[in-house]
Amino acid sequence: MSGNRTTPLRLGVLASGRGSNLQAIIDAIEAGSLPARIAVVISNKKDAQALERARKHGAPDVFLDPKPFAGRPDGREAYDQAILDVLRRYDVELVLLAGYMKIVTPVLINAYRNRMMNIHPSLLPAFPGLEGQKKALEWGVKIAGCTVHFVTEGVDEGPIIIQAAVAVLDGDTPETLAERILEQEHRIYPRAVQLFAEGRLQVEGRRVRVDDAVLDEARALRNPA
Ligand code: GRF
Repeated sequence: MSGNRTTPLRLGVLASGRGSNLQAIIDAIEAGSLPARIAVVISNKKDAQALERARKHGAPDVFLDPKPFAGRPDGREAYDQAILDVLRRYDVELVLLAGYMKIVTPVLINAYRNRMMNIHPSLLPAFPGLEGQKKALEWGVKIAGCTVHFVTEGVDEGPIIIQAAVAVLDGDTPETLAERILEQEHRIYPRAVQLFAEGRLQVEGRRVRVDDAVLDEARALRNPA
């Protein structure tokens, strides 16, 4: 996590579907605002749109079929070992889970401790797991949002890097709320990667200290507009 990198940070992205968060990272790289490159995009779904986005950007895309691993007692670990082999082959320094619909095992978590991020569509620790936006509506919260965090053993439980808040409106459906949360996801994920690339993130237990120089902006990102 050096602040004086001379080479772009090598990213490995794990995605299962649409890949709009991957696209936000690609856009930031192409705009020159993120000192990183997509080293590889890996998916457990052959037809994931994320793989198509990688190809369009000129980045390597890898489909890793989970089927041969299913049914083995150590199947999940063996699958993650196969992913790890790909990540290492491409010299990945930071792993991004971006709509990756598999729970990662300690094989990956230990290899990339404090070097693997996830984006989640709720203000964690509220509403971990699936359908965070729907749960927010069901609970009647007034403020929803999204979280970028480091990945640890507990699902959606790792140290929080950035959060963005989104007001819940009376007429919201899970879809309309998800759409507004997604806009914020696309702001904070590239920003979290940038902070990492610049060596401005320090993990202290559950907390992530963000270097003072960017604290003002980080604070703005944590509050509703
Ligand atoms: C996002 O809402 C993200 O927070 C969640 O899964 C969704 C992925 O969307 N983890 P996309 O594939 O990045 O468009």
